[in-house]
Amino acid sequence: MKIAVYPGSFDPITNGHLDIVERSSEMFDTIIIAVFANPRKEPLLTVEERLDLIREVTRHLPNVQVDSFEGLLSDYARQRSAKVIIRGLRAVSDFEYEFQMSLMNKKLNPNVETIFMTSSSKNIYVSSTIIKEVSALGGAVSGLVPRAVENRLVEKFYHRKDGDNE
Ligand code: PNS
Repeated sequence: MKIAVYPGSFDPITNGHLDIVERSSEMFDTIIIAVFANPRKEPLLTVEERLDLIREVTRHLPNVQVDSFEGLLSDYARQRSAKVIIRGLRAVSDFEYEFQMSLMNKKLNPNVETIFMTSSSKNIYVSSTIIKEVSALGGAVSGLVPRAVENRLVEKFYHRKDGDNE
């Protein structure tokens, strides 16, 4: 069984992430999309919201599992018997941090290999951060995130109930 972990914040999942998942799901028996529950970051979406959205938009991929993790990714990969970590690369600017992470993960878990997949050109400028900023300021993000994510962003930014202070 070739098991690969695709880790990230996924706050929220974008079409760039989904493209990497779809392409890598053809290369491995199982892909585990692993949402990092980062105690040091204040996300827009809760871990549960992120997991629900990811489950919804990957429903068509039978070999894709969705999970969250705390602590080190290298430990999580070991725990899930995954020998591969998948990361998407959009531009050279991503490379330095990704290179550092892959070497550190290899040091912490010598059985794990990081593989990088290049983003499709249409998604090269798409990031969760830029999607949140554009959406919060009223810009359209259709075509850049799945419809379910688009709807959730609209709910988050524009349909807040009185007293909601998320
Ligand atoms: O989507 P992101 O925010 O670029 O994903 C970053 C992520 C979650 C893959 C990275 O921060 C991570 O692996 N965090 C888990 C904690 C850990 O193992 N840190 C050391 C990495 S060398």
